[in-house]
Amino acid sequence: MRERQATTTYLKDYRPPNYLIDTTDLKFELDNEFTLVSSKLSLRRNPEVEGWNSPPLVLDGQELELLSVTLDGQVLSHADYALNTESLIIATVPDQFVLEIQVRIKPIENTALEGLYISDGMHCTQCEAQGFRRITYYLDRPDVMSRFTTEIIADQASNPVLLSNGNLLESEELTGGRHSVKWLDPHMKPAYLFALVAGKLEFIEDLFVTCSGREVTLRIFVEAKDLDKCDHAIESLKNSMKWDEEVYGREYDLDIFMIVAVDAFNMGAMENKGLNIFNSSCVLAKPETTTDLTYQRIEAIVAHEYFHNWSGNRVTCRDWFQLSLKEGLTVYRDSQFSADMGSKTVKRIDDVALLRTVQFAEDAGPMAHPVRPDSFMEISNFYTVTIYEKGAELIRMMHHLVGDAGFRRGTDLYFDRHDGQAVTTEDFVKALEDANQVDLTQFSRWYSQSGTPVLKISDQYDAQNQQYRLTVEQSCPATPGQPHKKPFHIPLLIGLLDTDGTDLPLSLQNDLSGVNGSTSLTLEITSEKQQFVFENIPERPTPSLLRGFSAPVKLEYDYSSTDLEFLAQHDSDGFNRWDALQKRFVVLILDFAEKLRQGEEMELPTQLISICSSVLAESENDPQLAAKMLSIPTEAYLWELVDEIDVESIHRAREFVKQELATALNEPLLRVYREQSSNELYQATSQQMARRSLKNLAMQYLVWSGEERWLQMATEQASSGSNMTDVSAALGAIVNSMAPQAGQLSDKALDQFYLNWKHEPLVVNQWLALQAGCPREGALQRVEKLLEHDAFDIRNPNKVRSVVGVFCAQNRIHFHHIDGNGYRFLEQQVIRLDGINPQIASRLLTPLTQWGKHNKPRQTLMKQSLSKILEKGNLSKDVYEVASKSLG
Ligand code: BES
Ligand code: ZN
Repeated sequence: MRERQATTTYLKDYRPPNYLIDTTDLKFELDNEFTLVSSKLSLRRNPEVEGWNSPPLVLDGQELELLSVTLDGQVLSHADYALNTESLIIATVPDQFVLEIQVRIKPIENTALEGLYISDGMHCTQCEAQGFRRITYYLDRPDVMSRFTTEIIADQASNPVLLSNGNLLESEELTGGRHSVKWLDPHMKPAYLFALVAGKLEFIEDLFVTCSGREVTLRIFVEAKDLDKCDHAIESLKNSMKWDEEVYGREYDLDIFMIVAVDAFNMGAMENKGLNIFNSSCVLAKPETTTDLTYQRIEAIVAHEYFHNWSGNRVTCRDWFQLSLKEGLTVYRDSQFSADMGSKTVKRIDDVALLRTVQFAEDAGPMAHPVRPDSFMEISNFYTVTIYEKGAELIRMMHHLVGDAGFRRGTDLYFDRHDGQAVTTEDFVKALEDANQVDLTQFSRWYSQSGTPVLKISDQYDAQNQQYRLTVEQSCPATPGQPHKKPFHIPLLIGLLDTDGTDLPLSLQNDLSGVNGSTSLTLEITSEKQQFVFENIPERPTPSLLRGFSAPVKLEYDYSSTDLEFLAQHDSDGFNRWDALQKRFVVLILDFAEKLRQGEEMELPTQLISICSSVLAESENDPQLAAKMLSIPTEAYLWELVDEIDVESIHRAREFVKQELATALNEPLLRVYREQSSNELYQATSQQMARRSLKNLAMQYLVWSGEERWLQMATEQASSGSNMTDVSAALGAIVNSMAPQAGQLSDKALDQFYLNWKHEPLVVNQWLALQAGCPREGALQRVEKLLEHDAFDIRNPNKVRSVVGVFCAQNRIHFHHIDGNGYRFLEQQVIRLDGINPQIASRLLTPLTQWGKHNKPRQTLMKQSLSKILEKGNLSKDVYEVASKSLG
């Protein structure tokens, strides 16, 4: 498992499996000390393999204790097979045979949370991507699909509930207080979709009638204390099932759909066939403990995992290089769903914000990789924002190019054609092409070329001929292994505004498409340099470029501050209105950062203040969009936009803008805060959430102004708020305040909060995260103290993320302190965690991989920490791959 064997797997080496497994019958005998796993596999030679020369059977297996192997009823002796740390090899096997294997595993010692492990006394599994090989010897690859039965035998008292994929066949009481159940999953599936859960669980139940009239039982299994937190998830599930029928024509295909909540989970959730397993933080909700943001996240994740039933399970991936085939598509589907459940514009803003900060940073750093990578050492490291978010953007662009009806024809063909198969991203693109008679050959470069393309746009107005000319040039910076890029096919949606701010009708010179006259137009960018001439333009227009962020690119156009202010007020495209104001803030903050370096005075432009106050004045129309518009660009986004990060100046300039703007807008902010406060009973509706988001934004601003009375107001809201959204927003405002008196108030409020909520682990995680993100002096010492707190547990990934993850990725001014202590802290935590949970250790490393954009002294310190980790030796593949690749 350790780095000596850290070999690289290449897409070009893909070969179909030599053997297929038609049926897989599993038997688990659960015990506290160890678990016995018996498997009966019916194997046969793969008829697709050419030039058959009776190759050996190589089964994957890790950390298994082999007890016996039987081939067609004959017990094999040690001489008949070879064993190493990663496989079981049987040199000669017939063309068709039955293999029975018995192994012993120790779930209790499994801290990596891959395979079968124990979470809070409960047995559960996580098999994606390569966890099934920690359960038994198998062909653990997604193109081997099999029909599974699962028998589970366990003590009745400690494990009253025994679950696996598919439909329940039978259950039986056994002697000695034990019982057994048998599950049958009628659908062929790869091993990564296998799941087993056993424990003391209770459930809530509902019913869904599918479009063809079949009844499906829905159950959510949780610990008894959490039964009151399942309503939102079950509503979200029913909405998802209905939406997938209506929008994609996809119906559910088993008699039961189950969700289980577990506390120790590396990811958010997992789409195991018929038995989704969720991180409890992504499923449990009630108004007193859960913020609106988490309500929305739960809805999205429940939908995402449900949608995988078609995009991932019925049609799965041929190999792990195709991961975006299921993840990119499913993220795209869940984003469409969320947009339909709430506000399309706001959903787009949130998605783009994530893409432009985290994904663009990944694409510009040493871990950059294509949406369909060419190689990996450890596949767990490739569950990235590039595979997920950029992958979803590619689907979105293709949808844009073929239109709504064409996209539906394409996905219908894809699901029909490949149902029950393990396929590639090319197969998806091909289905879209075939259903629409379009050629997406050039478009497909998006799958193989990494890096974020840059669109440089300039314009010229010819008053005499009333013509407006746009010149568009594309380029893409070099990324690891890819010095030169070929031009991308980029849909560029644009509009032109006249001096009143009205969209002009667009007619393109020599345009044969027949869409002339509309006020928004998609320019298809396919070469390095292209020109577009618009006719009958009576005056110099203001261009609204890349509307709705129609492609994941960086746009360069020389907007003046006046242009940005104009677009922020008038653009008919909501996304671009938001983006224009963000860009205006960016210009201002970066300008102030420069002034700070030069020791010059800073002053907020009055025009910007007045735009912000009119956003507040009109906020009633769309409170959530108003809240988004007034959100100050994050440090993460600002860092992304500069060539060399000046940690302190950017931080201070941003703080200055926050405080000044808050002071200038004091009066309208207070008015909005009062107007949006209400005594209504909490509901997780998008209307109520929108109001709360604006109200709490106003409160946060007021606190930024630094005045004592607003801190008092927030303290009051933190202690008497009737729902967690209000309470946590208020507590967050106090904890993040830099006002001199905030320290004391914040300590008091945090203590009180802990007393109130120490019995609710998910709330305690929020409490940990708030403190880890606190920008006041002494942050690192506070974080080190939190690691010693009773509420912390290094084996629980949620706790690790709340403390170490939040400090290193979000508390930027302290993590990146020039003394290097933040980096050394992360170095130590990664080394410690690598022995416990390599996936989590490797993910935490991300901030250090971004050293390239920092100044020389920080670069040296960051690289030192990465080297120290490598020097440690005996690392997991996970951490070794990230540390070694990011040192180059
Ligand atoms: N299939 C993944 C879960 C997974 C990821 C398992 C990596 C093993 C390794 C699941 O469908 C997923 O993508 N979950 C996301 C949430 C989703 C809403 C993007 C997650 O867990 O973060
Ligand atoms: Zn997924």
